[in-house]
Formats: sequence, C-alpha cells, structure tokens
Amino acid sequence: AMVRHYKFNVLSRNMTRLCSIKPIITVNGKFPGPTLYAREDDTVLVKVVNHVQENVTIHWHGVRQLRTGWSDGPAYVTQCPIQTGQSYTYNFTLTGQRGTLLWHAHVNWLRATVHGAIVILPKLGVPYPFPKPDKEEIIILGEWWKSDVETVINQAMQLGMAPNVSDAHTINGHPGPAPNCSSKGYTLQVETGKKYLLRIVNAALNEELFFKISGHELTIVEVDASYTKPFKTDTIFIGPGQTTNAILTADQNSGNYQIAISPFMDTTVATDNQTATATIQYKTTPAYSPAILTKIPPRNATSLTTNFMDSLRSLNSKTYPAKVPLTVDHSLFFTIGVGINPCSSCMNGSRVVGNINNVSFVMPTMALLQAHYYKINGVFTEDFPGNPPTAFNYTGNNTATTTQTTNGTKVYKLEFNSTVELVIQGTNIVAPESHPTHLHGFNFFVIGKGVGNYDPKNDPKKFNLVDPVERNTVSVPTGGWTAIRFRADNPGVWFMHCHLEVHTTWGLKMAFLVENGKGPNQSILPPPNDLPNC
Ligand code: C2O
Repeated sequence: AMVRHYKFNVLSRNMTRLCSIKPIITVNGKFPGPTLYAREDDTVLVKVVNHVQENVTIHWHGVRQLRTGWSDGPAYVTQCPIQTGQSYTYNFTLTGQRGTLLWHAHVNWLRATVHGAIVILPKLGVPYPFPKPDKEEIIILGEWWKSDVETVINQAMQLGMAPNVSDAHTINGHPGPAPNCSSKGYTLQVETGKKYLLRIVNAALNEELFFKISGHELTIVEVDASYTKPFKTDTIFIGPGQTTNAILTADQNSGNYQIAISPFMDTTVATDNQTATATIQYKTTPAYSPAILTKIPPRNATSLTTNFMDSLRSLNSKTYPAKVPLTVDHSLFFTIGVGINPCSSCMNGSRVVGNINNVSFVMPTMALLQAHYYKINGVFTEDFPGNPPTAFNYTGNNTATTTQTTNGTKVYKLEFNSTVELVIQGTNIVAPESHPTHLHGFNFFVIGKGVGNYDPKNDPKKFNLVDPVERNTVSVPTGGWTAIRFRADNPGVWFMHCHLEVHTTWGLKMAFLVENGKGPNQSILPPPNDLPNC
C-alpha cells in the first residue's frame, strides 16, 4: 500500500454553459472536479485550500473512514467548515473497498459544482472479478443552474417553498451537443469489439436519473464500490450519491449512439424534464453521421426502477463474501418524508420541512463529533426516537395537519459492533417521493423493500440475508419502504440523510453516534492538528 497526496484548490472560475457565462466554485478550476485515484489499502492525503468567500468542506462519499471520522466532511457533523484562506488535510485509508465512489462538498449547496469521482483500484496484482476491460471511462452526471445556486435555495427557504429546478442536467459537465452555443457535448470514442468499463457517478443535487445508451446493453458489475452479480440491462437507475460500474461492449460496426440521462419522478412533485445527452462514437464513423437516438423512459417509469433495484445482488463469492449481520441488536423503524411547519418569517406562514420520525434536524453551530469527543454538553441530545412516535397509516392519503414535526439536534446511540436493522418507511404526507437515503461511515445491506406500509409480521419472512446488495445510498420507493442491516463497527458520529439536497436542507437528516469499543483499535483516533474551528 502507498500514500497518495492530492491538493484541492477551491477557487472560482468562469464557465460557459447553455450559451451563457457565470462564475462557479470549482476544485482546481475543473467542472466536474479532478478524479482521485488510489488502490485498496492506500492512504490518501488531500490538502484542501479554500480560496473563495464561502465556507468549504469535502465529503468522501462512501469511504468507510474507519476510526477517522474527522476526515468524513459533513459540515457541523464531523468538522467545522474550512474558512476563507484556510486549509485542512483530509487523511484516510481505503480499507476493504474497491470500485467507484464520489467526493463532493458537504456544506450548503456547494456540491452543485464541487464534486468528482473516486476510483479505488484493486490491490496490485488482484484482478477484477469480471473480464478485464480494454479501457475505463468516468461518467459524472450533474445539474446546471443558470443562476447562482446558493441564491436559489436561500430564496426558497425564506419563502418556505420548493426551490427552482435546475436548467439542465450534465454528462461530464455538458448538457449535450448544442451547435448554437458551439458546444460539442461529451463524446466517448470506441472501437468495435472492445470492452469499456463505465464508472458512472450521479453527482446531481436533486434528481434520481435514468441512464441509457442507444443500441447497446450494459452489464452491471459493481455499485457503491461493492461488486455485484453481473446482469444485463438497457437502463440504469441511479440516485444522487450512487455510483454504478457497467461494462459497455462496443458491438456495433460504426455510427454515433446517443447517451441520454433523464429524471425519474413518479409523483406530481415539480421536476424538470431536461434530458442531457452525450455520444458514443465508433472510430470508423463517417463525418456528419447523425446520432442514433435513445428512447427516453417516461418520467414516472417506476417499473424500470423496481426491475433495476431487484436485479442488484452482492457478488457474494469466496473472495468477496456478503457479510450480512444475521442477528439484530437494534431493530429500528424510521419514517421519512416532508411535512409542513408553522413559520412566522415565511410568506405563507408555514414552510416545508423534512423529517425522520417526525423530527426535523437542526444543524448545530459546532461539529457533533467534536462535542462528542471533548464531551461538550448542550450541542446535541441522545433521544432520537428509534421508532415513530405514533402508529399511523404512513402511505394513506394524509393531511398535513396531523404531521407537524418537532425540531431537534438528536442522535441515536449505538454500542460499538452492535448490529442494526433499520426499516425506512417513506410517508405520503404532503409530497410522496422516492428518497435516496445515504448513511455515512458504513456500507449496509439492502435486505428487503416493498410498496405501501411495512408489515412487521410478514415482510421479514421475505428478507434476503444471503446475497443482498451492499451499498451506502438506497432509494426508498415512493409510498413504500426499504430494510437495511449494518454493523456499527466504526466509532464516531455518522450522518444519515436523503441525498436530494433540498430534502437535506429541509431537515430530512439525523446522526448515529457509535461509541468506542473496549478493545485495541476500537476507538476513534484523535483529531488532526489542523482540524478547523467554528
Ligand atoms: Cu454524499 Cu452526506 O453525502
């Protein structure tokens, strides 16, 4: 294993998209940002220098951060932000993971433009568990706003309403071929007969997406840096924070084939229908050949999302066994959704809030992990409810008046190495929606899911405890539930939230506090000297 050094200069840069120019915040002047390459077991040091007026933190999404919570990155959870002119070196080891992940800013809405891929290659000499691809390519999906992104969300919060949707989606930074703006969009050149490993990252703020390439099937081999049983599909479903590795076999003779990404939304919530496109171009293609277009899935193609998620299974081989916890110490049930709270400063006297078990999370003014480590009282409370306050028909046609949330900075405490089964129940209150739910510090196994209300008597009989997919972000279906299991083997404070940034902002978030173990190497490491102060 080796030590790899990176320097991330956070700086403003003018970019032209959709025919107009605007300054955006970038890492090293790039959008998307630079790729972080390492091998399993390597230690990575990233010095982040803040050259902009805004606060900055970077989260290494999906990196386990065993005992190194100080390098996890969510602002006011594991660290105070890096202020203008300051720097902080993230220092972590990539233990037991290989595949594609992403890094992104984790303060306000900065991740709109501050994000990039993490590629963890297998240890030297260790092959992939699938045929070696001829070439690898990173494909990052994002969103573009014509206006300033922080202004978009700040105004929405003041009004107590939903923010404007983005003006375009992007593929490797580009909405698509736009001759009138002299933009070619992103193009991947391929050769007939070769295999390409596509490392697909959804770095969008607020949309789960479909990904398709005309004329080609894809073989899925990994999600969220965990190998899967290979399966073929013509449509990938990928939520914000999720990553998918797929093998593209260039089995056509020549031509331009369109890549298209389009949003999934199976409710009436406002979303845009913007499709972003890119091109797969065979090297033998004559000039000016029009692209063969992709058939875009309908916006509400729930069955495509279900088929895709149901096909995902851990590889569960001898070398890569699925270590599903078979006993459960903490059986938890969390409802997630959005409700309406009174708000005296809001235009309508009320505002939308996100909640888990009816608690809308209030960000503290110092980092939870620091408060925990230094035993500072008054920053958070340990009374996060492990089950909802009242039994309820969660997926019925409820009115908002029954659902007013309470506010709090509450954590749920877990003993070191205890096992957790968590059923996440989406609610139909105010705005039923699919929630890509992300847990920091752990991979979890997705042992079951369903539509409607979770049935504690019968649903567990159908749980998959053999080869469930292992990941860090899972889509909880609209008006349905998902059950996950994980082992609390990582001491620290770990954020869990909906990875739709607008829901996070509204309070759909909480944190687990995992205590130190008693044995050697079971405690969180001391904080680094350059950890920022609030
Ligand atoms: Cu990728 Cu807490 O986020």
